[in-house]
Amino acid sequence: MMKTMNKIFICVSLALCLGAQVQAADGGNPKKGKHLYKKECKACHSMGDEGGEITPMSKTMSQWDRFFRRNKHKAKAEVFEALSEQDLLDIQQFLYDHAADSDQPQTCG
Ligand code: HEC
Repeated sequence: MMKTMNKIFICVSLALCLGAQVQAADGGNPKKGKHLYKKECKACHSMGDEGGEITPMSKTMSQWDRFFRRNKHKAKAEVFEALSEQDLLDIQQFLYDHAADSDQPQTCG
């Protein structure tokens, strides 16, 4: 019984996370971006990691744009240097689409 409940809960949570991607601005692919974010960023940006927890909601849309345009991950520049321009664009799109002041703020990354 509990097992079934858990399964349902996970399904609903996943659907909420995945279903949130509708708009695409600036040429990035937010779906890919989400995947890349999990793969490339979460390693250092989950709770208790060296970079501190970061989710799309950690910044506003304009703060994300500024971060990707100007800051370029100054704290550890090699992280951005190791990624292709398209990968970074996709990640930026995902974070932007779910920023704190977006239509669909999102903590699940
Ligand atoms: C190798 C570890 C590592 C990886 C991988 C990494 N980061 Fe970071 N990141 C850091 C550290 C360390 C800081 C500096 C944290 C601080 O100053 O407290 C940082 C800082 C940041 C900040 C600034 C936080 C602030 O103060 O506003 C953002 C935003 C950020 N990272 C986003 C990302 C994104 C997006 C990715 C994936 C493309 C990523 N990081 C991948 C280690 C990492």
